[in-house]
Amino acid sequence: MHLPSWLSEAVFYEIYPQSFYDANGDGIGDFAGMTEKLDDLSALGINAIWVNPCFESPFMDAGYDITDYCRIAPRYGTNEDAIRFFNEAHRRGMRVLLDLVPGHTSDRHPWFLESKKPEKNAYTNRYIWTGNAFDYPEGFRLMSGLSDRDGNYMVNFFSSQPALNYGFENRQYDWQLPPDHPDCRATLEEMKHVMRFWLDAGCDGFRVDMAYSLVKNDPLFTGTKRLWNEVREMFEREYPDAVLLSEWSCAEQAIDAGFHMDFYLHFNSVGYNALFQTAPFDYVDKAEAAPCFFHRDGKGDVTRFLNEFLPKYRYIRGRGYMCLPTGNHDMVRYSHLRSEEELKAIAAFILLFPTVPFLYYGDEIGMRYQIGLTSKEGGYYRTGSRTPMQWSDGKNKGFSAADQTYLPVDSAPDAPTIAQQRTRAGSLWHTVRDAVALRKSDPAFGADGDFRVAYAKEGAYPFVFRRGRYVISVNPSERSERIALDGRFKTVFSTAGRTTHANGVLDAGGIDLTVFEDLAPAAGGDTN
Ligand code: NOJ
Ligand code: CA
Repeated sequence: MHLPSWLSEAVFYEIYPQSFYDANGDGIGDFAGMTEKLDDLSALGINAIWVNPCFESPFMDAGYDITDYCRIAPRYGTNEDAIRFFNEAHRRGMRVLLDLVPGHTSDRHPWFLESKKPEKNAYTNRYIWTGNAFDYPEGFRLMSGLSDRDGNYMVNFFSSQPALNYGFENRQYDWQLPPDHPDCRATLEEMKHVMRFWLDAGCDGFRVDMAYSLVKNDPLFTGTKRLWNEVREMFEREYPDAVLLSEWSCAEQAIDAGFHMDFYLHFNSVGYNALFQTAPFDYVDKAEAAPCFFHRDGKGDVTRFLNEFLPKYRYIRGRGYMCLPTGNHDMVRYSHLRSEEELKAIAAFILLFPTVPFLYYGDEIGMRYQIGLTSKEGGYYRTGSRTPMQWSDGKNKGFSAADQTYLPVDSAPDAPTIAQQRTRAGSLWHTVRDAVALRKSDPAFGADGDFRVAYAKEGAYPFVFRRGRYVISVNPSERSERIALDGRFKTVFSTAGRTTHANGVLDAGGIDLTVFEDLAPAAGGDTN
């Protein structure tokens, strides 16, 4: 199988289209606005973009509830606007991934409107229905009594998101069809059609929502892996340079399933939170951070992350990548309970690790998590991470000319903006740009580059690792730490300039990430 060569050097940026830039002044972001801001992303060094769902939808879950997979939501523009966006991105050397939601649709999708009819039709089995309306087997999230069809239907996430039917790997009841049933095959063929439609229109692949969940009663993911491997074969044959990125957060399973990359996230495992999570969502209003490695209080433990990450990394190496994000539209922003210096260390770490980096929009300036906002379009606690991008000091921080915006713009007098940070030397934006440039300056920093742990101790700081001839020391705690480390080091990058090396001693200053070039690297060393 083939791994597109652009991935090792890719630096991704996630755009939440509602909140990025409103070009026509109606208060909500759009494709024309995203296209207009591509040069700003180029200035940061971004060469790949993931766009959150942008298809026709009643927006009960921010667009993860689709009514037409092949039509851009009118509030964002037209299909032509999306195609223009792909073309303009390509002209700047950027790739674009769309968000594919294969597991469920909106309950207002025409397929579902047919499926809930009592008369048998071509969509009767497009969704998962029990045998009759009084059929309530354990372990399924079922909706009942909402239509004249005699049965209950399964939902995947919110009640408005009925599960599409890809079949059951293990079957206990008659209404559970096998994955190779013609009606389940038809669901998959329809989803392949959607993928071809957008790949032919010029997108470069998909971030796949809840990729692990398609075939039901599939504890070992046998059926789900078979399904995705079939899709991967289609990519190999028809779109060899396009990519599939899963929301799975279990890289061993996802890469075996045929994905090129898998997100390393805050669920399904402990590593992401052990590194970054200052506040679980039901804890955001507490002033104190939960213990994690990247916090100035120094209460974290990097080995909790490494013990989980390293086996995954070894297992998938050469076959696929893990993607490490600063955050996303489902998490509390990384700026929460942190200073700008702390954010610099995190962003640089994510950009220099042997994974594919993702910056969530606004994280390059440390946009804040907004506590206490009224939920919008199924956001709930996530709403606070989805507010309009802060471009300048103008009206609505430059996001929109409208009097009323999609969500309130951060009104804090010191709310960060792109304009301020681009002009302030030493800002987070500058550090991110410099770290992106460093990553792209040498394949050693890319996702394919060599990686070795040089120093990592339980409950201790710093964490030191090597990328080829480079040595990266990261000490997010506010205490300085000294450790023994051989080599002849020359500083090439630093977020705070507090880490030095002399006579075999690394002096890792507090809240700093420094990159050295080792002019006398020892042969061998420990291998991962
Ligand atoms: C994961 C998406 O990231 C999230 O925003 C969405 O609500 C669920 N999947 C359901 O599609
Ligand atoms: Ca608009």
